[in-house]
Amino acid sequence: PKKEHFTVVVLGASGDLAKKKTFPALFGLYKNKYLDPNTHIIGYARTKMDLHVYHDQVSKYIKIKSDEDKVHLESFLKLCTYQSGQYDKDSDFQELEHHLRDVEKQTRAKARLFYMALPPSVFIPVAKSLKKNNHPEGVTIRLIVEKPFGMDLESSRELGRELGALFTEEEIYRIDHYLGKEMVKNLMILRFANVIFGSVWNRHAIDNIQITFKEKIGTEGRGGYFDEFGIIRDVMQNHLLQILSLVAMEPPVSLSAENVRDEKVKVLRYIPPIQAEDILLGQYVASEDGKVPGYLDDKTVPKGSKTPTYAAATVFINNERWSGVPFVLKCGKALDQQKTEIRIQFKDVAGNLFQSLSRNEIVIRVQPGEAVYVKMMNKEPGLGMKTIISDLDLSYSKRFNDVAIPEAYESLILDALNDDHSNFVRDDELDAAWKIFTPILKKIDEGHHDPIPYAFGSRGPKGVSEFVAKYGYHRGKQE
Ligand code: BG6
Repeated sequence: PKKEHFTVVVLGASGDLAKKKTFPALFGLYKNKYLDPNTHIIGYARTKMDLHVYHDQVSKYIKIKSDEDKVHLESFLKLCTYQSGQYDKDSDFQELEHHLRDVEKQTRAKARLFYMALPPSVFIPVAKSLKKNNHPEGVTIRLIVEKPFGMDLESSRELGRELGALFTEEEIYRIDHYLGKEMVKNLMILRFANVIFGSVWNRHAIDNIQITFKEKIGTEGRGGYFDEFGIIRDVMQNHLLQILSLVAMEPPVSLSAENVRDEKVKVLRYIPPIQAEDILLGQYVASEDGKVPGYLDDKTVPKGSKTPTYAAATVFINNERWSGVPFVLKCGKALDQQKTEIRIQFKDVAGNLFQSLSRNEIVIRVQPGEAVYVKMMNKEPGLGMKTIISDLDLSYSKRFNDVAIPEAYESLILDALNDDHSNFVRDDELDAAWKIFTPILKKIDEGHHDPIPYAFGSRGPKGVSEFVAKYGYHRGKQE
């Protein structure tokens, strides 16, 4: 497709997401020459501030590693201007339009990328204002939107209807930033470009699959937002389910965005809603030494809240490839380590030839320390015929030492500029995802599931190992 020349508008430019993710990603693209050097970036938010204060905010989380970076940052900031305005006031968006036209007169850009780094409450008002004031004829529009996409199936559909009345599906880019992560993007290649993996990727060889997300941090001042949503809506229904769909989907007809997303949505439709017995919830309390406060100690969290900060849930995919294979999804905050990984455990070896055997596993470590490793049996070197578990280890730090792994947001913003929807969530995919989780979320919201307390910095609520073992995960027979 023809490369268009964009002006980027970041709405919610003074918020955390913009500062921590959007601006550093735009800078990364600029520095590495993926962004046209003429691209202008306009920030829009309610706060009134001088340009130099704004520039301090834009740079706050940009990592400067060399003198060269410093020079790049200076020229990058020259492209960044700011305008304050309300989110529902036409006159402010008309002013934004003047600002845009001034800029476009110089840059000759004919396309606009609106990045909505906004809280859900102002989402639709802003989309309406943009449509009314900032969408002139002949100008290409792209809209990047961030979760939460509603609270459940109904509210997500409502949001979809409202947004759909303003912009076409082609104009909308729903971000799930896990789809921009290197190892998540690697999944299709691992599966569909390797006979040795592709041919065993099914219920005949695989016993169970675990997808795990662990974070060491708690809610840290985001308690207000978090409490309304909880860990299932915050991480499981989107990030983990997206990973699951890439692990489980059938090979797409081609790598086109529509072909890929057709397969992703199809596999989600084979998953029935999660049952009460297939879920385990937790909420963190103070650390064992009492030094780090618990979830309910956060002043932004309502008293007595039962919102889960940990969840484990098992889903089943009722199709020919996966029938009977449990997919165990686990995610939690305030745990003992930070880690996201996919662990595919194979069935036991048949027969009694060897005394001591562990199951084969393929582990795809998404972060930190990107890696793929295969756990396999080997002969223990030396005299004798003892078996030993060993690894075929593809750790990126060793194998691709000098390659910088791009940030997820860099990859996704670049995709949006290039009109590539493959790594964005389509409306029907979102719908299918909500169908799986909405009934159980309703029960949780009604208070039918008390979360089990776990200490900040621990491995999670009691019973997690038993929960996982119930769905078949074990290490095999060992002496
Ligand atoms: C976000 C969640 O979508 O993902 C956060 O809202 C979570 O709660 C974050 O911390 C994790 O992303 P990453 O890229 O740091 O693993």
